Amino acid sequence: MKLPGLESERIWITGMPFSGKSSAARKLASLLHWQRTDTDAQIEKDSGMSIPEIFASLGELEFRRKEKELTDLLCSAQHRVISTGGGLPVFYGNMDTMLQNGTVVFLNTSVEIIAQRSLEHKDRPLVHAVEETQEARVDFFRKMLFERLPYYGKAHHTFGSEKALLEWAQTLL
Ligand code: S3P
Repeated sequence: MKLPGLESERIWITGMPFSGKSSAARKLASLLHWQRTDTDAQIEKDSGMSIPEIFASLGELEFRRKEKELTDLLCSAQHRVISTGGGLPVFYGNMDTMLQNGTVVFLNTSVEIIAQRSLEHKDRPLVHAVEETQEARVDFFRKMLFERLPYYGKAHHTFGSEKALLEWAQTLL
């Protein structure tokens, strides 16, 4: 079953770390009565290791390989909202895979909010080395966003907040 207005049976939520993808996915899945997968959580479950452990013991490339494998697998999932790790769209052509196999949403939360949240939650390996000040984090995430925008920017829909994303979803019902 496709919902009216939806081009596909899968919605991929992409965006920077701390942009609120998991929370938006939870609400969207509940609104649509769809299943939900969070790629980070699924990789942790499948490998029996946390993301920081995977980065530390297997390395980032092995993590990216796991993301690619999972992305391909999820292309056959039905009625599924998928929140992706922030770097997933950048590697192995995953953004094009998602675009061809679902509706891709970019949650474009402001860099200031992302920086603030990164200081409150300390579980993401990519920011460990960055000084713990709002200014340093804003600089860091601004650069990351600049590098990733060519990928995120290809999404079918871009929203500046979870609220805007959910309002769009309401129009599909
Ligand atoms: C990463 C983001 C993380 C996680 C990993 C790498 C990234 O996910 O996949 O630490 O490269 O931006 P979130 O976007 O859920 O934080």
